[in-house]
Amino acid sequence: MEKIKTTVSIIKADIGSIAGHVVVHPDTIAAATRVLAEAKAKGVIFDFYVANAGDDLELIMSHRKGVDSPEVHEVAWTAFREAAKVARELGLYAAGQDLLSDAFSGNVRGLGPGVAEMEFHERPSEPIAVFMVDKTEPGAFNLPMYRIFADPFNTAGLVIDPKLHAGFTFEVYDVHEGKSVLLNAPEEIYDILALIGTPGRYIVRKVYRRFDNEIAAVVSVERLSLIAGRYVGKDDPVAVLRAQAGFPAMGEILEAFAFPHLVAGWMRGSHHGPLMPVPQRYSKCTRFDGPPRIVGLGFQVRNSKLIGPVDLFDDPAFDETRRQAQVVAEYVRRHGPFMPHRLGPEEMEYTTLPDILEKLKNRFFKPAKTAESKTGVEEPRETD
Ligand code: 13P
Ligand code: 13P
Ligand code: MG
Ligand code: MG
Repeated sequence: MEKIKTTVSIIKADIGSIAGHVVVHPDTIAAATRVLAEAKAKGVIFDFYVANAGDDLELIMSHRKGVDSPEVHEVAWTAFREAAKVARELGLYAAGQDLLSDAFSGNVRGLGPGVAEMEFHERPSEPIAVFMVDKTEPGAFNLPMYRIFADPFNTAGLVIDPKLHAGFTFEVYDVHEGKSVLLNAPEEIYDILALIGTPGRYIVRKVYRRFDNEIAAVVSVERLSLIAGRYVGKDDPVAVLRAQAGFPAMGEILEAFAFPHLVAGWMRGSHHGPLMPVPQRYSKCTRFDGPPRIVGLGFQVRNSKLIGPVDLFDDPAFDETRRQAQVVAEYVRRHGPFMPHRLGPEEMEYTTLPDILEKLKNRFFKPAKTAESKTGVEEPRETD
Protein backbone atom coordinates (compact mmCIF):
# COMPACT_ATOMS: atom_id res chain seq x y z
CA MET A 1 0.00 0.00 0.00
CA GLU A 2 1.26 3.45 -0.86
CA LYS A 3 2.28 5.47 2.16
CA ILE A 4 -0.20 8.24 2.95
CA LYS A 5 0.76 11.74 1.89
CA THR A 6 0.17 14.84 3.97
CA THR A 7 -0.64 18.24 2.50
CA VAL A 8 0.16 21.51 4.23
CA SER A 9 -1.92 24.43 2.92
CA ILE A 10 -1.42 28.03 3.90
CA ILE A 11 -4.21 30.20 2.55
CA LYS A 12 -4.39 33.88 3.48
CA ALA A 13 -6.47 36.95 2.87
CA ASP A 14 -6.86 40.46 4.21
CA ILE A 15 -10.54 40.53 5.17
CA GLY A 16 -10.37 43.77 7.13
CA SER A 17 -8.32 45.19 9.98
CA ILE A 18 -8.49 47.51 12.94
CA ALA A 19 -7.51 51.19 12.94
CA GLY A 20 -6.38 51.15 9.30
CA HIS A 21 -4.17 48.45 7.76
CA VAL A 22 -2.54 47.76 11.14
CA VAL A 23 -3.63 44.39 12.51
CA VAL A 24 -6.45 41.83 12.28
CA HIS A 25 -9.20 41.92 14.93
CA PRO A 26 -9.34 38.95 17.36
CA ASP A 27 -13.04 38.40 16.56
CA THR A 28 -12.17 37.72 12.91
CA ILE A 29 -9.57 35.17 14.03
CA ALA A 30 -12.26 33.59 16.21
CA ALA A 31 -14.72 33.46 13.30
CA ALA A 32 -12.16 31.74 11.04
CA THR A 33 -11.17 29.38 13.86
CA ARG A 34 -14.79 28.24 14.27
CA VAL A 35 -15.01 27.30 10.59
CA LEU A 36 -11.71 25.41 10.64
CA ALA A 37 -12.61 23.62 13.89
CA GLU A 38 -15.81 22.40 12.27
CA ALA A 39 -13.89 21.20 9.20
CA LYS A 40 -11.48 19.38 11.49
CA ALA A 41 -14.36 17.74 13.38
CA LYS A 42 -15.79 16.56 10.04
CA GLY A 43 -12.41 15.16 9.00
CA VAL A 44 -11.97 17.47 5.97
CA ILE A 45 -8.75 18.80 7.49
CA PHE A 46 -6.64 17.05 10.11
CA ASP A 47 -5.33 20.10 11.93
CA PHE A 48 -5.01 23.86 11.69
CA TYR A 49 -3.56 27.01 13.21
CA VAL A 50 -4.89 30.51 12.61
CA ALA A 51 -2.39 33.37 12.78
CA ASN A 52 -1.90 36.85 11.42
CA ALA A 53 0.77 38.85 9.67
CA GLY A 54 -0.27 42.42 10.39
CA ASP A 55 -3.66 42.85 8.73
CA ASP A 56 -3.52 39.49 6.91
CA LEU A 57 -5.48 36.51 8.23
CA GLU A 58 -3.49 33.31 7.80
CA LEU A 59 -5.01 29.82 7.76
CA ILE A 60 -2.40 27.10 8.26
CA MET A 61 -3.96 23.70 7.60
CA SER A 62 -2.84 20.08 7.35
CA HIS A 63 -4.87 17.38 5.59
CA ARG A 64 -4.69 14.44 3.16
CA LYS A 65 -6.57 15.83 0.18
CA GLY A 66 -3.65 17.07 -1.91
CA VAL A 67 -2.94 20.54 -3.29
CA ASP A 68 -5.80 22.49 -4.89
CA SER A 69 -8.39 20.36 -3.11
CA PRO A 70 -11.85 21.89 -3.75
CA GLU A 71 -12.99 20.76 -0.30
CA VAL A 72 -10.06 22.39 1.53
CA HIS A 73 -10.27 25.56 -0.56
CA GLU A 74 -13.96 25.76 0.22
CA VAL A 75 -13.20 25.53 3.95
CA ALA A 76 -10.75 28.44 3.58
CA TRP A 77 -13.21 30.44 1.50
CA THR A 78 -15.96 29.91 4.08
CA ALA A 79 -13.58 30.92 6.88
CA PHE A 80 -12.71 34.17 5.06
CA ARG A 81 -16.37 34.88 4.29
CA GLU A 82 -17.34 34.37 7.94
CA ALA A 83 -14.42 36.51 9.13
CA ALA A 84 -15.30 39.22 6.59
CA LYS A 85 -18.89 39.20 7.87
CA VAL A 86 -17.58 39.96 11.37
CA ALA A 87 -15.26 42.60 9.91
CA ARG A 88 -18.24 44.31 8.25
CA GLU A 89 -20.29 44.18 11.46
CA LEU A 90 -17.43 45.82 13.35
CA GLY A 91 -16.86 48.33 10.57
CA LEU A 92 -13.25 47.20 10.28
CA TYR A 93 -11.10 48.93 7.73
CA ALA A 94 -11.16 47.53 4.17
CA ALA A 95 -13.53 44.73 5.22
CA GLY A 96 -13.48 42.00 2.58
CA GLN A 97 -10.48 43.66 0.88
CA ASP A 98 -9.02 40.50 -0.66
CA LEU A 99 -12.26 38.67 -1.48
CA LEU A 100 -12.63 39.81 -5.05
CA SER A 101 -15.48 37.61 -6.13
CA ASP A 102 -18.61 36.08 -4.63
CA ALA A 103 -18.43 33.15 -6.98
CA PHE A 104 -16.50 30.28 -5.42
CA SER A 105 -16.13 27.38 -7.83
CA GLY A 106 -13.80 24.88 -6.24
CA ASN A 107 -10.57 26.87 -5.91
CA VAL A 108 -9.62 30.15 -4.24
CA ARG A 109 -6.83 30.92 -6.75
CA GLY A 110 -7.72 34.02 -8.71
CA LEU A 111 -10.40 35.03 -6.21
CA GLY A 112 -8.02 37.10 -4.07
CA PRO A 113 -6.52 34.89 -1.34
CA GLY A 114 -2.84 33.86 -1.48
CA VAL A 115 -2.04 30.15 -1.48
CA ALA A 116 1.10 28.11 -0.69
CA GLU A 117 0.56 24.35 -0.57
CA MET A 118 2.81 21.30 -0.62
CA GLU A 119 2.17 17.55 -0.46
CA PHE A 120 4.76 15.06 0.79
CA HIS A 121 5.38 11.72 2.47
CA GLU A 122 6.19 12.62 6.06
CA ARG A 123 9.72 11.85 7.11
CA PRO A 124 10.11 10.19 10.54
CA SER A 125 10.45 13.73 11.82
CA GLU A 126 9.08 16.51 9.60
CA PRO A 127 9.98 20.06 10.70
CA ILE A 128 8.50 22.88 8.60
CA ALA A 129 8.73 26.67 8.63
CA VAL A 130 5.76 28.84 7.67
CA PHE A 131 6.53 32.46 6.78
CA MET A 132 3.89 35.17 6.55
CA VAL A 133 4.62 38.68 5.39
CA ASP A 134 2.74 41.97 5.51
CA LYS A 135 3.20 45.11 3.37
CA THR A 136 5.15 43.48 0.58
CA GLU A 137 4.91 41.23 -2.49
CA PRO A 138 5.74 37.55 -3.20
CA GLY A 139 9.07 38.52 -4.79
CA ALA A 140 10.21 39.56 -1.29
CA PHE A 141 11.04 35.86 -0.80
CA ASN A 142 13.39 35.76 -3.83
CA LEU A 143 16.52 36.91 -2.02
CA PRO A 144 16.13 34.69 1.07
CA MET A 145 15.10 31.67 -1.08
CA TYR A 146 18.23 32.09 -3.15
CA ARG A 147 20.38 32.32 -0.06
CA ILE A 148 18.74 29.29 1.60
CA PHE A 149 18.89 26.97 -1.43
CA ALA A 150 21.82 28.23 -3.49
CA ASP A 151 24.28 30.17 -1.34
CA PRO A 152 26.81 28.12 0.64
CA PHE A 153 27.75 31.25 2.61
CA ASN A 154 24.25 31.03 4.07
CA THR A 155 23.59 27.29 4.00
CA ALA A 156 26.54 25.22 5.14
CA GLY A 157 24.66 22.03 4.24
CA LEU A 158 25.04 22.78 0.51
CA VAL A 159 28.72 22.02 0.98
CA ILE A 160 28.72 19.38 3.73
CA ASP A 161 25.41 17.46 3.59
CA PRO A 162 25.34 14.79 0.82
CA LYS A 163 21.58 15.22 0.25
CA LEU A 164 21.94 18.98 -0.25
CA HIS A 165 25.17 18.80 -2.20
CA ALA A 166 23.47 18.02 -5.55
CA GLY A 167 21.69 21.38 -5.26
CA PHE A 168 18.12 22.52 -5.80
CA THR A 169 15.82 23.22 -8.76
CA PHE A 170 14.09 26.61 -8.72
CA GLU A 171 10.74 27.11 -10.44
CA VAL A 172 10.74 30.79 -11.40
CA TYR A 173 7.34 32.20 -12.32
CA ASP A 174 6.87 35.17 -14.65
CA VAL A 175 3.80 36.96 -13.29
CA HIS A 176 3.32 38.98 -16.48
CA GLU A 177 3.25 35.98 -18.81
CA GLY A 178 1.82 33.47 -16.33
CA LYS A 179 4.65 31.03 -17.24
CA SER A 180 7.34 29.22 -15.25
CA VAL A 181 10.87 28.06 -15.98
CA LEU A 182 12.86 25.39 -14.09
CA LEU A 183 16.48 26.32 -13.35
CA ASN A 184 19.12 24.28 -11.56
CA ALA A 185 21.44 25.52 -8.85
CA PRO A 186 24.39 25.61 -8.68
CA GLU A 187 25.16 25.48 -12.44
CA GLU A 188 22.54 28.02 -13.53
CA ILE A 189 22.79 30.45 -10.61
CA TYR A 190 23.62 33.42 -12.86
CA ASP A 191 20.50 32.76 -14.95
CA ILE A 192 18.43 32.39 -11.77
CA LEU A 193 19.76 35.70 -10.44
CA ALA A 194 19.26 37.45 -13.79
CA LEU A 195 15.55 36.72 -13.42
CA ILE A 196 14.81 36.87 -9.69
CA GLY A 197 16.71 40.13 -9.24
CA THR A 198 13.50 41.63 -10.72
CA PRO A 199 11.22 40.50 -7.89
CA GLY A 200 8.16 42.40 -9.12
CA ARG A 201 8.03 40.14 -12.16
CA TYR A 202 10.01 36.90 -11.66
CA ILE A 203 9.17 35.03 -8.49
CA VAL A 204 10.65 31.91 -6.94
CA ARG A 205 7.47 29.83 -6.77
CA LYS A 206 8.76 26.38 -5.82
CA VAL A 207 12.04 24.74 -4.92
CA TYR A 208 12.84 21.02 -5.32
CA ARG A 209 15.74 19.01 -3.93
CA ARG A 210 17.63 17.58 -6.92
CA PHE A 211 18.86 14.52 -5.00
CA ASP A 212 15.36 12.99 -5.29
CA ASN A 213 13.10 15.77 -6.63
CA GLU A 214 11.39 16.18 -3.23
CA ILE A 215 9.48 19.42 -2.71
CA ALA A 216 11.47 21.78 -0.47
CA ALA A 217 9.61 25.12 -0.57
CA VAL A 218 6.50 26.81 -1.98
CA VAL A 219 5.71 30.56 -2.16
CA SER A 220 2.31 32.12 -2.93
CA VAL A 221 2.42 34.02 -6.22
CA GLU A 222 -1.01 35.57 -6.48
CA ARG A 223 -0.81 39.15 -7.67
CA LEU A 224 -4.02 40.87 -6.88
CA SER A 225 -3.28 43.81 -9.11
CA LEU A 226 -3.01 41.51 -12.13
CA ILE A 227 -6.04 39.46 -11.12
CA ALA A 228 -8.29 42.44 -10.77
CA GLY A 229 -6.62 44.86 -13.18
CA ARG A 230 -6.95 47.59 -10.58
CA TYR A 231 -5.72 48.30 -7.07
CA VAL A 232 -7.55 46.09 -4.61
CA GLY A 233 -4.94 45.62 -1.92
CA LYS A 234 -1.45 44.21 -1.85
CA ASP A 235 -0.56 40.60 -2.35
CA ASP A 236 1.18 40.06 0.99
CA PRO A 237 2.71 36.58 0.52
CA VAL A 238 3.19 33.34 2.46
CA ALA A 239 5.72 30.54 2.10
CA VAL A 240 6.27 27.06 3.52
CA LEU A 241 9.63 25.27 3.68
CA ARG A 242 10.74 21.82 4.89
CA ALA A 243 13.71 21.80 7.26
CA GLN A 244 16.45 19.48 8.50
CA ALA A 245 17.60 15.96 7.67
CA GLY A 246 18.37 16.47 3.98
CA PHE A 247 16.84 19.93 3.69
CA PRO A 248 18.43 23.13 4.98
CA ALA A 249 18.53 23.17 8.79
CA MET A 250 15.98 25.45 10.47
CA GLY A 251 18.86 27.71 11.48
CA GLU A 252 20.06 27.91 7.86
CA ILE A 253 16.55 28.85 6.74
CA LEU A 254 16.28 31.56 9.41
CA GLU A 255 19.80 32.87 8.74
CA ALA A 256 18.57 34.12 5.35
CA PHE A 257 16.29 36.59 7.16
CA ALA A 258 19.08 38.08 9.26
CA PHE A 259 19.64 40.66 6.49
CA PRO A 260 16.71 43.13 6.33
CA HIS A 261 16.71 43.51 2.54
CA LEU A 262 14.65 46.14 0.75
CA VAL A 263 11.28 45.02 -0.55
CA ALA A 264 8.39 46.70 -2.37
CA GLY A 265 4.98 47.27 -0.81
CA TRP A 266 5.33 49.66 2.12
CA MET A 267 2.72 52.47 2.51
CA ARG A 268 -0.06 52.26 -0.08
CA GLY A 269 1.79 49.38 -1.71
CA SER A 270 3.98 52.00 -3.33
CA HIS A 271 7.25 52.24 -1.40
CA HIS A 272 10.40 50.25 -0.76
CA GLY A 273 11.39 49.44 2.81
CA PRO A 274 13.42 46.91 4.80
CA LEU A 275 11.87 43.54 5.66
CA MET A 276 11.88 43.26 9.46
CA PRO A 277 11.62 39.79 11.05
CA VAL A 278 9.38 39.99 14.14
CA PRO A 279 7.73 37.73 16.70
CA GLN A 280 3.99 37.25 16.45
CA ARG A 281 3.34 39.91 19.14
CA TYR A 282 4.94 42.59 16.94
CA SER A 283 3.08 41.46 13.86
CA LYS A 284 1.34 44.78 13.31
CA CYS A 285 2.30 47.51 10.91
CA THR A 286 2.40 51.00 12.39
CA ARG A 287 5.17 53.34 11.27
CA PHE A 288 4.21 54.59 7.80
CA ASP A 289 2.09 51.38 7.80
CA GLY A 290 5.22 49.30 8.25
CA PRO A 291 8.00 48.74 7.89
CA PRO A 292 7.22 45.52 5.98
CA ARG A 293 7.45 42.59 8.37
CA ILE A 294 7.78 38.86 8.36
CA VAL A 295 6.59 36.38 10.97
CA GLY A 296 7.84 32.79 11.07
CA LEU A 297 6.16 29.83 12.75
CA GLY A 298 7.84 26.42 13.09
CA PHE A 299 5.86 23.15 13.33
CA GLN A 300 6.47 19.43 13.34
CA VAL A 301 4.11 17.60 11.00
CA ARG A 302 3.16 14.24 12.50
CA ASN A 303 0.45 11.93 11.12
CA SER A 304 -0.95 14.96 9.26
CA LYS A 305 -1.21 16.98 12.49
CA LEU A 306 0.60 20.22 13.27
CA ILE A 307 2.73 20.11 16.43
CA GLY A 308 3.63 23.60 17.56
CA PRO A 309 4.08 26.40 16.71
CA VAL A 310 7.34 27.92 17.81
CA ASP A 311 7.58 31.67 17.17
CA LEU A 312 10.80 31.62 15.12
CA PHE A 313 11.83 35.29 15.23
CA ASP A 314 11.05 35.68 18.95
CA ASP A 315 14.74 35.64 19.71
CA PRO A 316 17.28 38.32 20.68
CA ALA A 317 19.46 36.81 17.93
CA PHE A 318 17.31 38.89 15.54
CA ASP A 319 17.53 42.12 17.58
CA GLU A 320 20.43 43.39 15.49
CA THR A 321 18.51 42.67 12.26
CA ARG A 322 15.58 44.63 13.65
CA ARG A 323 17.88 47.49 14.64
CA GLN A 324 19.41 47.55 11.16
CA ALA A 325 15.92 47.55 9.69
CA GLN A 326 15.11 50.60 11.84
CA VAL A 327 18.20 52.41 10.60
CA VAL A 328 17.36 51.59 6.97
CA ALA A 329 13.72 52.58 7.51
CA GLU A 330 14.86 55.93 8.89
CA TYR A 331 17.21 56.43 5.95
CA VAL A 332 14.80 55.58 3.15
CA ARG A 333 11.92 57.52 4.73
CA ARG A 334 13.94 60.73 4.38
CA HIS A 335 13.50 60.40 0.60
CA GLY A 336 9.80 61.17 1.07
CA PRO A 337 8.10 61.07 -2.34
CA PHE A 338 11.31 60.42 -4.26
CA MET A 339 12.37 57.19 -5.90
CA PRO A 340 13.86 54.75 -5.05
CA HIS A 341 11.89 54.92 -1.77
CA ARG A 342 8.73 55.46 -3.79
CA LEU A 343 8.33 52.72 -6.41
CA GLY A 344 8.68 53.42 -10.11
CA PRO A 345 5.51 54.61 -11.90
CA GLU A 346 4.75 51.20 -13.47
CA GLU A 347 4.88 49.42 -10.11
CA MET A 348 2.87 51.74 -7.89
CA GLU A 349 -0.42 50.54 -6.46
CA TYR A 350 -1.69 54.12 -6.33
CA THR A 351 -0.84 56.84 -8.81
CA THR A 352 -2.14 60.25 -9.70
CA LEU A 353 0.38 60.63 -12.52
CA PRO A 354 -2.05 60.13 -15.47
CA ASP A 355 -4.43 62.74 -13.99
CA ILE A 356 -1.61 65.20 -13.42
CA LEU A 357 -0.27 64.70 -16.96
CA GLU A 358 -3.78 65.19 -18.34
CA LYS A 359 -4.31 68.35 -16.29
CA LEU A 360 -0.96 69.80 -17.38
CA LYS A 361 -1.00 68.64 -21.00
CA ASN A 362 -1.65 72.11 -22.42
CA ARG A 363 0.96 73.69 -20.22
CA PHE A 364 3.92 71.66 -21.48
CA PHE A 365 6.09 73.56 -23.97
CA LYS A 366 9.37 73.09 -25.75
CA PRO A 367 11.97 75.38 -24.17
CA ALA A 368 12.93 78.06 -26.76
CA LYS A 369 16.18 77.68 -28.66
CA THR A 370 18.47 80.47 -27.57
CA ALA A 371 21.01 82.29 -29.70
CA GLU A 372 23.81 80.50 -27.87
CA SER A 373 22.31 77.09 -28.40
CA LYS A 374 20.98 75.82 -31.70
CA THR A 375 20.31 72.42 -30.18
CA GLY A 376 17.95 73.79 -27.57
CA VAL A 377 20.32 72.58 -24.89
CA GLU A 378 21.71 75.34 -22.74
CA GLU A 379 25.39 75.74 -23.45
CA PRO A 380 27.80 76.95 -20.82
CA ARG A 381 28.35 80.71 -20.99
CA GLU A 382 31.77 82.07 -21.05
CA THR A 383 32.67 84.11 -18.08
CA ASP A 384 35.82 86.04 -17.48
P1 13P B 1 20.13 17.35 10.88
O1 13P B 1 21.10 16.75 9.90
O2 13P B 1 19.73 16.39 11.98
O3 13P B 1 18.98 18.02 10.24
O4 13P B 1 20.92 18.52 11.73
C1 13P B 1 21.62 19.51 11.12
C2 13P B 1 22.23 20.37 12.19
O5 13P B 1 23.20 20.03 12.81
C3 13P B 1 21.60 21.69 12.46
O6 13P B 1 22.54 22.69 12.65
P1 13P C 1 -2.32 45.93 3.00
O1 13P C 1 -1.95 45.45 1.61
O2 13P C 1 -1.53 45.22 4.05
O3 13P C 1 -3.79 45.87 3.20
O4 13P C 1 -1.86 47.43 3.11
C1 13P C 1 -2.39 48.37 2.24
C2 13P C 1 -1.73 49.71 2.34
O5 13P C 1 -1.85 50.48 1.44
C3 13P C 1 -0.97 50.06 3.55
O6 13P C 1 -0.37 51.32 3.45
MG1 MG D 1 -5.17 45.82 4.57
MG1 MG E 1 -1.53 43.21 4.52
